[in-house]
Amino acid sequence: MSFTTNNINTLVRDNIRTLKPYSSARNEYKGKQAVFLDANENPYESLYNRYPDPLQAELKQEISRIKGVASKNMFLGNGSDEAIDLLFRIFCEPGKDNVLSIDPSYGMYEVCADINNIELKKVLLTPDFQIDLNATINAIDANTKLLFLCSPNNPSGNMLEKQSIIELLESFQGIVVLDEAYIDFANSEGMVSDLERYPNLVIMQTFSKAWGLAGVRLGMAFAHEQIITYMNYVKYPYNINILTQKEVLKQLRSRSNVETQVNEIKSERTKLVHTIESNENIVKIFHSEANFILVKCKRSRELYEYLVERKVIVRDRSKQALCEDCLRITIGTPKENKALVEYIKEFYA
Ligand SMILES: Cc1ncc(COP(=O)(O)O)c(C=O)c1O
Repeated sequence: MSFTTNNINTLVRDNIRTLKPYSSARNEYKGKQAVFLDANENPYESLYNRYPDPLQAELKQEISRIKGVASKNMFLGNGSDEAIDLLFRIFCEPGKDNVLSIDPSYGMYEVCADINNIELKKVLLTPDFQIDLNATINAIDANTKLLFLCSPNNPSGNMLEKQSIIELLESFQGIVVLDEAYIDFANSEGMVSDLERYPNLVIMQTFSKAWGLAGVRLGMAFAHEQIITYMNYVKYPYNINILTQKEVLKQLRSRSNVETQVNEIKSERTKLVHTIESNENIVKIFHSEANFILVKCKRSRELYEYLVERKVIVRDRSKQALCEDCLRITIGTPKENKALVEYIKEFYA
């Protein structure tokens, strides 16, 4: 039995289904030209004296143009992390419900679960970091509300097989959250075009990676309108400030170098892999479709510390499942990557 839109409401926590959301002044009157005496703002006009648009209509319209997703299917948050947290608060009853996450993956799923007092069950990926379908399906129980997938996955860098994701979407009676933070660096398309087919699919993307805007904090979630409506009910009324809305709008309308930078990062990724894979101390470099590579190497902790001493900071991931002796290295500029390569050579010399 596959998931239908009717299932969404029944999955939502009772207190959220019956919630009367806060109606802000800017929700009630949407016109632009008026004497605004409704929100207790300071009347003296400046760039910031007014509250921002709570539902970010103009920004969503512009994002819609590049992502091909309608505004009604789009939530904008203070980074993807806000979307993750909201999904817990909408669907998971603390102390009762649980969620699943592939393992290893992005650490915030577990932190958010802990904060919300929700059990997170980890399902180990296969040794080549693919979904173990049987293990995942077996881990689902009547109280499993969310399933976190990440493709390209952090920290492994690989895309998850689409067929496995589809099988989970079709068999799971909860919400599949597919984190596509790194999708712009991948060689194949993500699953945005599949959204209409799967009402239980939530896709997360972000402006923090390919767009180089980690500092402005803007994350996106794409999903069925009913899910987006709940996310908008539960979020803080003015969750995206004016500075962020304006800056991202400006970048969306004027930036022409996003694709060039992404291509440069992808070609640097290939170059870096070729350069270090010949070193006999590099045990394995996992295939990456993200802006980082996972490298299994000899004396990984020592190498990590050697690099830190030289002010090159990578991420030691050796304590994560399937990542023994692994460092995760973000692709930098050609100059930064060159320095990294030199230090690696020097360390093993
Ligand atoms: C898989 C994944 N999702 C989300 C994020 C965070 O995204 P944001 O900056 O939009 O909160 C990261 C950041 O490292 C990530 O690796």
